Amino acid sequence: MPPGKRPLAVVTGANRGLGREVCRQLAAAGYEVILTGRDPAQGAAAAAELAQQGLAVLFRPLDVTDDASVAGLADDLARTGATVDVLVNNAAIALKGFNADVARRTIDTNFYGAARVTDALLPRSAAGARVVMVSSGLGQLTAVAPALRRQFADAKLTTAGLFALVEKFVADVGQGRHGLEGWPSSAYNVSKVALNALTRLLVPTLKKRGLLVNAVCPGWVRTDMGGSGASRSVEEGARSIVWAATLAADGPTGGFFRDGSRLAW
Ligand SMILES: NC(=O)c1ccc[n+]([C@@H]2O[C@H](COP(=O)([O-])OP(=O)(O)OC[C@H]3O[C@@H](n4cnc5c(N)ncnc54)[C@H](OP(=O)(O)O)[C@@H]3O)[C@@H](O)[C@H]2O)c1
Repeated sequence: MPPGKRPLAVVTGANRGLGREVCRQLAAAGYEVILTGRDPAQGAAAAAELAQQGLAVLFRPLDVTDDASVAGLADDLARTGATVDVLVNNAAIALKGFNADVARRTIDTNFYGAARVTDALLPRSAAGARVVMVSSGLGQLTAVAPALRRQFADAKLTTAGLFALVEKFVADVGQGRHGLEGWPSSAYNVSKVALNALTRLLVPTLKKRGLLVNAVCPGWVRTDMGGSGASRSVEEGARSIVWAATLAADGPTGGFFRDGSRLAW
């Protein structure tokens, strides 16, 4: 992975769906792209297909739930002296059903996964890099009851406090009291509420190094997750993400956007 002249982008969960299209659009815009995925065969095939189109895309394995896998990517970058100009935290799951196991797995992937990758790649990030959290309109604060909304939106919320809140959700689901405690019966929605809160919390740390971090909703997109009846093409959804990945240096940070327009938290 030699550091080239092109700016370098890393995209998680990019063997299919929006992640793969984000890789294509970023590479077409002149980035060298590291397409990552947890399945080596699928990831390598997706990267090879884009590379055959003349795009600077290469594959690295990355399971966002696995500390060793994430550390492996960071070490790989460190070994070659590469610095990351764009990080797109795209990997996510939307499981069927709702129980403590679904809550645990969803939070581990959609929330802790993005936190883990961002944390690990921060030392490898170029000054002025862009970090994009691929969120969802389903993660707006209205997804949870007013008392929880206040906690997620609290200006004094810390990362430890946010992690505790998320763990409380998983525990409440396990104890069958999530409804009483104001949580929806959707681990996906809670994972994105938490991801949005993390986006806001990261601003001060990242600002010190000139990094911009924003959450983005791609809209309802025709992927395996969105289904064939969704209203948007994958190209259109990915454009919403790429907009935040390629912001000008004086662009916004700590916001929530769809198609470049601000959404309410
Ligand atoms: N589609 C929509 O309508 C919609 C709407 C709002 C937001 N979003 C968000 O957009 C993003 C992309 O969604 P999509 O529609 O493209 O979904 P998708 O087609 O289901 O793709 C999800 C991707 O995430 C990967 N992934 C899951 N768990 C992972 C893990 N532990 N480590 C690494 N990669 C992992 C999957 O890899 P595998 O192939 O190995 O499973 C796959 O590449 C997600 O954050 C999603 O929440 C989508």
